[in-house]
Amino acid sequence: MKKAVLASLLAAFGVAGTAAAAELNIYSARHYQTDEQLYGDFTKQTGIKINRIEAKEDELLERIRNEGANSPADIFITVDASRLAKADELGIFEPVKSEALEARIPAHLRAPNWFSYSTRARVIVYNPELVKAEQVQTYEQLADPALKGKVCTRSGSHPYNLSLGAALIKHNGAEAAAKWAEGLVANFARAPKGGDTDQIRAVAAGECGVAIANSYYLARLMNSPREEDQRAVASIQAVWPNQQSWGTHINVSGAGMLKHAPNKEAAVKFLEYLASDSAQAYFANGNNEWPVVPTVKVENAALTKLGEFKADTLPIGELADTVAEAQRIFDRAGYR
Ligand code: FE2
Repeated sequence: MKKAVLASLLAAFGVAGTAAAAELNIYSARHYQTDEQLYGDFTKQTGIKINRIEAKEDELLERIRNEGANSPADIFITVDASRLAKADELGIFEPVKSEALEARIPAHLRAPNWFSYSTRARVIVYNPELVKAEQVQTYEQLADPALKGKVCTRSGSHPYNLSLGAALIKHNGAEAAAKWAEGLVANFARAPKGGDTDQIRAVAAGECGVAIANSYYLARLMNSPREEDQRAVASIQAVWPNQQSWGTHINVSGAGMLKHAPNKEAAVKFLEYLASDSAQAYFANGNNEWPVVPTVKVENAALTKLGEFKADTLPIGELADTVAEAQRIFDRAGYR
């Protein structure tokens, strides 16, 4: 008797379990320390199990395209507006209409088919023994002949620089952007190599006078307990570029729901969850970035120290319009 009740109860749970055991499949090109908490909390709140596939952005896009209508992927997460735009151009996203997301995420950080969840700034770092502060207050100044032999950046074909180029075209026009790229290349201390952290280290070492880097690389060094990182940070200064004009160029991490998502309801819930206070803090702080929801506070010593700045308010989805042009301009200028 007892056994039979238990069995039927289990059966009932089994059935309910199947209905409630909603799942969500995330393809992510982002991986950070706080991700376990980020995804774990969503499952705790909703009972929806998350399956994650993490790989490089191009591999994931290739996979989504190959899987086509049979793709199990519900959500695609990646970094950089131009990469999100590229994914969007492939037609993989389905637009999501959500009052919660519209209320929480500022309009300029939403694109028609995807949402931004954290921001990073492209900052200027310089060595005060090699260049003066007033020489490096804007991106435009990096092309000034006064900085000949002083400038370092990573490759011009990297999405971070292409997005910056796209913003320069939007604000100053293609002709000015082309002149800028030529001037920048003429000022190089060395041919572009390495990542943003390598540029910061080279500035600290005096190999370069000035460089461009994403804010989270700088914040990572600032928060690092390693003595050599602290020494590097002590030898450089950081600038929020273009505070007197169009503001510092920002980029984003973002996500969207996929057109063939088998779990659309769960996918929308997840996109909304990412804009919640706790998720915003995990998502942004996991990589020393800023939350997109303005009321969310992040406890991060480096970000607090870097302080506030005027950010470019160009709609993030519009950067994509000029990325291809930025690539052509950079190619012509020999910015590789
Ligand atoms: Fe990066």
